[in-house]
Amino acid sequence: MAQILQPTRECLDFLSEVFKRGGIAAIPTETVYGLACNALDPEAVSKVFEAKGRPSTNPLIVHIDSLDDLESYAVVPTSAQKLIDAFWPGPLTLIFPKTKIVPDTVTAGLDSVAIRMPSHPVFRELGTRCDFPIAAPSANPFGYVSPTTSAHVMRTMGTKIDWILEGGTCTGGIESTILSYKNPSQPTILRHGGIPIEVLESILGSKILSKEVVVEKTDQGLEAPGLLKRHYSPQTRIELFAGAPPLLLEREAIVLLQKEGKPSDSVFHFSEHGHIEEIAKNLYRVLQEIDQKQFKRVFIETPPAEGIGVAIRDRLSRAAAQE
Ligand code: TXA
Ligand code: MG
Repeated sequence: MAQILQPTRECLDFLSEVFKRGGIAAIPTETVYGLACNALDPEAVSKVFEAKGRPSTNPLIVHIDSLDDLESYAVVPTSAQKLIDAFWPGPLTLIFPKTKIVPDTVTAGLDSVAIRMPSHPVFRELGTRCDFPIAAPSANPFGYVSPTTSAHVMRTMGTKIDWILEGGTCTGGIESTILSYKNPSQPTILRHGGIPIEVLESILGSKILSKEVVVEKTDQGLEAPGLLKRHYSPQTRIELFAGAPPLLLEREAIVLLQKEGKPSDSVFHFSEHGHIEEIAKNLYRVLQEIDQKQFKRVFIETPPAEGIGVAIRDRLSRAAAQE
């Protein structure tokens, strides 16, 4: 069973040594917990794919903790600099042409690499102790709901890994926005996430394309293979609604955007007052909690499609997809 490490100096030193020797561990970021290893060590990267049960065709994000090494891993177009200045460290992943140093296992053979600089203080403490970048997918079994606490990681990955670094509850709660710079003159969103598209556009001063990639599991050569129609999925059957809540039958439950009426065994909420950041922060926790209660069916209220609501709706519709 995995052991939880508190983010003390000793434990951080120990973990950087684990990574140096090719080990893997779950670590906190401000979005979700990641299942991490030395990104430059192909064998360690294979262990991450295996522990997660992730197809080797689905590339990992490379996490850095300073801008100094960026050019060693990626060819960065000048047009991306404004976004780097504005949002790093933070929940924005940028895709650039890769350099030779980045192993093919990390990028699943693609000629591009996804890079992000997390802002979580514990990640940063760890990052400064590692003289290599850190590859990490979200620390959940492939296809399941992402973890926002060490307890979530323990519950779903506890038998597959040895170490989980404690970082408290993730403040963002939803994965990073992924923006591709494969075509430098036309940045394109591949996954909506922590930073809304209109916020990115306001910094760039131009329109960003959004690729509504919804692909079936069998497709080959996907641009963001994580964007499967069914993903982030609890075992429980999910149905989405907006507007008037449906009537509940036996062993059914409902999750509302904000607290209403008396608490009950079948009525849950994502947030106290319906603030969208709070809904994002609690989204995966609530999905994990209702999934443990063995309901036959759960109705979930969707937020409006604006700001980070776009990313929340994206995750909910994938969680509700049947196949
Ligand atoms: O917030 C996050 O981004 C979290 C934390 C741990 O950093 N990470 C995360 O990783 O969500 P993961 O592996 O669950 O999702 C990364 C997505 C996948 O859909 C993958 O296909 C895509 O990024 N991706 C990675 N490299 C890519 C590349 N070179 N081109 C296109 N898509 C890529
Ligand atoms: Mg994931």
